[in-house]
Amino acid sequence: MKTAVYPGTFDPITNGHVDLVLRATRLFDRVVVGVAKDTGKNPVCALEERVELAKLALAKMPNVEIVPFEGLLVHFCKSHGAGIVIRGLRAVSDFEFEFQLASMNRRLAPEVETIFLTPAEQYAFISSTLVREIARLGGDVSEFVHPEVQRMLASKRCL
Ligand code: COA
Repeated sequence: MKTAVYPGTFDPITNGHVDLVLRATRLFDRVVVGVAKDTGKNPVCALEERVELAKLALAKMPNVEIVPFEGLLVHFCKSHGAGIVIRGLRAVSDFEFEFQLASMNRRLAPEVETIFLTPAEQYAFISSTLVREIARLGGDVSEFVHPEVQRMLASKRCL
């Protein structure tokens, strides 16, 4: 049974993230979506809210678990019996940070491999920050996020 962890801040989860999880479910028996508490990003949405929205957005996918985590990603992977980390690469600009992250994680835990997937083209330009900004300025984000995420953004709880 091959388990992969897809970690992120998910502040909030977008259709781009959902697309990546769907791709990962075709490759692995079990996908654990790790919603990170510690990312150095100062997330706008509370951890509980980010987890709840990820659960709603991914509700229809079998073999997917959404789990909050604190501390090192490699420890989280080990505690879930996962030897694979999935990360998304949208553009060349993502590469430098992702390369650093993957290399550091390999140094910390050589048995954990990082695999990169690319999202469908229509999601290649989405980011959680842009989605929050569009919602804050009154734009329509229905194309980019699950309806529950849209509702949460419209309620201005996480802007
Ligand atoms: N479609 C659309 N957007 C995507 C995407 C996709 N497929 N993949 C990533 N993004 C966007 C996100 O919306 C996000 O946008 P933002 O910067 O505007 O918020 C950005 O790309 C990246 O976010 P995300 O995918 O949520 O990941 P992250 O870079 O925030 O996650 C962790 C970083 C959690 C993996 C990293 O901080 C971590 O491992 N933390 C645990 C502590 C640890 O182990 N530290 C040591 C690491 S060596």
